[in-house]
Amino acid sequence: MSGTTATQPTPADLPLFPFPEPVAHPLDPPAYRDLLSGEAPITRVALPTGGWAWLVTRLAEVREVLRHPAFSADIAKPGFPLLRPLPRPRDRDRAGLFIRMDPPEHGRYRRMLTPEFMIKSIRRLEPLIQQTVDRFLDDMVAAGPPADLVDAYALPVPSLVICHLLGVPYEDHCFFQSRSRVLLNSSVSVEEAQGAADELRDYLSRLVTAKQRDGGDDLLARLVAGRLRGGALTHDEAVGMAVLLLVAGHETTANMIGLSTLVLLRHPDQYAALRDDPGRAPALVEELLRYLTIVRTGLPRLALADVEIGGTRIRAGEGVIALLSVANRDEGAFADADRFDVDRGAHQHVAFGFGVHQCIGQPLARAELRIALVALAERLPALRLAIPDDEVPLRRDSFIYGLQRLPVTW
Ligand code: HEM
Repeated sequence: MSGTTATQPTPADLPLFPFPEPVAHPLDPPAYRDLLSGEAPITRVALPTGGWAWLVTRLAEVREVLRHPAFSADIAKPGFPLLRPLPRPRDRDRAGLFIRMDPPEHGRYRRMLTPEFMIKSIRRLEPLIQQTVDRFLDDMVAAGPPADLVDAYALPVPSLVICHLLGVPYEDHCFFQSRSRVLLNSSVSVEEAQGAADELRDYLSRLVTAKQRDGGDDLLARLVAGRLRGGALTHDEAVGMAVLLLVAGHETTANMIGLSTLVLLRHPDQYAALRDDPGRAPALVEELLRYLTIVRTGLPRLALADVEIGGTRIRAGEGVIALLSVANRDEGAFADADRFDVDRGAHQHVAFGFGVHQCIGQPLARAELRIALVALAERLPALRLAIPDDEVPLRRDSFIYGLQRLPVTW
């Protein structure tokens, strides 16, 4: 396929993306890889919103796309590859959502948050993460087995931590968790997604106003005091940043904690090894991130100029999807890629993306995963599934892969 600009097939000739997930078990390898085997690392797929996009599946090319300045992350640009129709664009909805912006605009917002997410800042949060983990484990143990580990542990831990960091009242968790789920659901209508986004914006708008009036010792209060008062940020921009951090900051890590626990229950030797040697946790977390790659539907981008990626010519105006889950199982980069192997040194994985948009929350996510999994292994060494392994219910209709429930006993 070197240098190919082959005749453009019409979408009807192309496989529809996202491909159906034929996985029988949540930990089976991404089905996409089998569907693509024998194909070029870059292939065309039809999109559910009409049109088509290039699907990039090899680690080297995924990194190339995500760091290349010719690719835009701005979903409002005509021709952007969308997996769900976009609501009517309104300026208010776009303000502060820097995950969808390109440099230099993107960097202006991201730089405001960089100090908050540096490793040394997150280290200061570790005692709070530990207390949170202990609190929810205490409650779960006190209530006695069986328990739904997603509901009792995986979801509340990162939710409470992000609330503390941002200065969002945790008692509102049912509200923001349910709206975040709708936003990340791939099968809801445009109206439902827009409704959930509006409600989150209105809620955080009131909170930003309160921080402006009352101050406080949290990220949003600092943002408001430093930038909003100084005129570097508008109210709507501060609200957009808050929405992004609140949604991205709990749902992702929650799904990782649930799925990671399931992996460890399938590898009891690794669960026991973690308890005996918590120093294994950082390597374990990296391999879990690679192996699970919860951002299953990949990262969409739009080419703003002609670029050659992996020998394929991508023209300005064409869409690309960087499929992280398949890149993280690339045999060329990870030997025996479907095997869960804590000692492989999985550092070059792209579970957090790559390039300018690479996850700003990764030091926080890593700390939460490490502390939550070590505490679980130490506190509940006899943890096991309360239902058959192949009956663990998946969340199949979400852009972020996860479990609906994880019934456990001990
Ligand atoms: C295991 C958990 C997590 C995973 C797998 C994950 C994954 C990702 C990925 C793949 C991206 C890149 C998106 C793109 O390029 O379009 C991203 C960006 C982002 N993540 Fe995370 N994330 C996690 C946890 C968090 C946490 C805890 C926060 C905390 C607030 C967070 C906040 C963000 C933000 C703000 C961005 C946008 C960065 C930018 O555009 O510059 N994430 N994340």
